[in-house]
Amino acid sequence: MPYSVPKLTDFSPAALDSVVRELLSALEEESKAVHSENDWKLFRDRWMARKNGVLTQLNDLWLKVAPGLGKREVGQRVNELKTKVTEAVEKRRIKTISLALSDSLELHGSVSAKVIRGRLDITLPGIRRPIGAEHPVIKTMNEIVGVFRNLGYSVEEGPEIETDYYNFEALNFPPNHPARDTQDTLFIAGQESKPQRDRLLLRTHTSPVQIRTMQKMKPPVRVVCPGKVHRNDALDATHSPIFHQLEGLAVDTNITFCDLKGTLDHAMKAMFGSSVKTRFYPSFFPFTEPSADVQISCIFCDGKGVRDGAPCRNCKASGWIELLGCGMVDPNVFGFVDYDATKVSGFAFGMGIERIAILKYGVDDIQLFFQGDVRFLEQFK
Ligand code: PHE
Repeated sequence: MPYSVPKLTDFSPAALDSVVRELLSALEEESKAVHSENDWKLFRDRWMARKNGVLTQLNDLWLKVAPGLGKREVGQRVNELKTKVTEAVEKRRIKTISLALSDSLELHGSVSAKVIRGRLDITLPGIRRPIGAEHPVIKTMNEIVGVFRNLGYSVEEGPEIETDYYNFEALNFPPNHPARDTQDTLFIAGQESKPQRDRLLLRTHTSPVQIRTMQKMKPPVRVVCPGKVHRNDALDATHSPIFHQLEGLAVDTNITFCDLKGTLDHAMKAMFGSSVKTRFYPSFFPFTEPSADVQISCIFCDGKGVRDGAPCRNCKASGWIELLGCGMVDPNVFGFVDYDATKVSGFAFGMGIERIAILKYGVDDIQLFFQGDVRFLEQFK
């Protein structure tokens, strides 16, 4: 039954107190039932509307009819009630707004909503959200790319799923080369019906990007090609079936082995410090001729082979650490991309990023790069 203002007949203080109490408890009751802005408007009008609001009725039903002496008593109480009703209506307005606000914020899981509802003590220490760090492999990759960018190289990328043609054939790998063996290469299944050159595999090195780049651009070419490569290798401390390489290729008129040596010597010094020496050791790759492995003087024993009176374990006491493969682009490779091998020459190199990161940061197991253990990764912040 909604509250209605009673007609007064008894104007004794006790009787007045009792009707005031009744009115206030009705006010409280009705205020609690307000949940929306609309509820609140009805609530406000019911109590405060000039025409027939409860307060107006008090004037008519209580004050006007009060006898001479009781008028003061009634007047005081009506005034108090006006203040209380006004306060209650205003209080409810604020509460309704903040409820609506917090509901809409809470939908989005907002902290401020919880603060408004008093469910969150913002004086408590906060939850720390650890800041991520660049992965050491990517960090190392970016550093090396940076060194070559400064030399005027641009960056090219190629697909990780490659055809036999780009990964092997155009790079001068003969049909029966052992690298093409399933022991070393991960092939995509179900390719038997395709001609060999179209069969798909996970690229075993970034060198196919050399071919893709030369098909796209005319000389002069100066590019580095970072990326992920795959080999059918068993896991151990220095091998992983997935790793990263950075390929380099420079083709122009009159590029010589001296340019190759100077470029890589500079890059190694930029990566490992200016006191590092380089050494070029004869090697073989089907797509470069001549080919070389590059070694740097051991950064752990300064190339002495001895550290703290014991043979250096990092370079097996040789003073040198093998780091990358390189060579002058084989003229046969130019044949595959329609470059005139009598007019241009070039060099190429390829390095393993993890291997460089392992040396730079003193990491003793390549698996650490791929396990995603935060205790390891957060050290590279
Ligand atoms: N692609 C070779 C490898 O993965 C490295 C290399 C690149 C050698 C370029 C010479 C020139 O081992």
